[in-house]
Amino acid sequence: MVKDLLKGKRGIILGALDSNSIAWKVAEKAHEQGATFVLSNAPIALRKGDIFELGKATGSEVISADLTQVDEIEHLFEDSVKILGGNIDFLLHSVGMSPNVRKGLRYTNLDYNYMMKTLDVSAISLHKLLQTAYKMDVINEWGSVVALSYIAAQRTYSTYSDMAQAKAMLESITRSFGYHYGKKKNVRVNTISQSPTVTTAGTGVGGFKSFYAYANCMSPLGNASSADCADYCIMMFSDLTRKVTMQNLYHDGGYSTMGISETLIQSCFTCQGECFDDIAEKELVMGKKKKE
Ligand SMILES: NC(=O)c1ccc[n+]([C@@H]2O[C@H](COP(=O)([O-])OP(=O)(O)OC[C@H]3O[C@@H](n4cnc5c(N)ncnc54)[C@H](O)[C@@H]3O)[C@@H](O)[C@H]2O)c1
Repeated sequence: MVKDLLKGKRGIILGALDSNSIAWKVAEKAHEQGATFVLSNAPIALRKGDIFELGKATGSEVISADLTQVDEIEHLFEDSVKILGGNIDFLLHSVGMSPNVRKGLRYTNLDYNYMMKTLDVSAISLHKLLQTAYKMDVINEWGSVVALSYIAAQRTYSTYSDMAQAKAMLESITRSFGYHYGKKKNVRVNTISQSPTVTTAGTGVGGFKSFYAYANCMSPLGNASSADCADYCIMMFSDLTRKVTMQNLYHDGGYSTMGISETLIQSCFTCQGECFDDIAEKELVMGKKKKE
């Protein structure tokens, strides 16, 4: 096991809600690897209280910040630099929320105020963080910013709703800001596109169990867990990835490159062909009728 990969590095970890959160695992591993950091989440998440346990376990202070509010981000950076004793080397954006998903609204019946909220919380917040950090100059040379994404940015997942647009925008902001921050201070900005993972945000998406099972059957290495994702984040924060920037990095056991797997070939017809609209086609494919 590699040791002290983040020794001497300071950071901010956003989005640890409970022990299932991806950010929670990142905080535990960053602590193991010698980093010092501040934890932050929205005021409502702090009221839930779990994050303070993580703070105790990792020797980290917790700062409240709603990432849609630029003044709260400014305070977060000011206070973090004071607490940590200097500028930061890494920043994790592990944040996402869609009121449309929460309310179970179908994609053909979205509420546009909710949609604006989805984009603000889940994507524009990354721009707000980067722009504020850039203006306040709080990220050190060769610093690393990672945000978490999902493959619905590229492909259609019928119940992922407006989060698909949020992830597409998140990845686009990563590329655009990655250029500017790279030129200014060699700061790298990347997204990690993670497998379905059992967390509060993940399981809130309609049909999550099928997302999870399908991806697991499709991926030669199986789904990546939140602990696996944390390992990848640690590597991205370390000095071993100094020239990786403006990328969307798939972390999904190979899922994103697959078409169909043997596991799916063996299990696909468990529906007994219910997916067919055309009876003749069904009989032909299911082998009940010979091709003429
Ligand atoms: N779970 C999955 O299947 C999966 C897959 C790929 C990507 N992701 C992404 O990983 C990231 C982390 O999610 P998670 O799965 O760990 O779930 P989670 O529910 O544990 O984390 C989401 C976090 O976003 C925070 N948040 C919401 N609104 C906020 C605001 N206004 N200001 C600050 N924080 C706010 C929540 O308090 C919570 O801590 C998200 O971007 C999510 O879309 C998750």
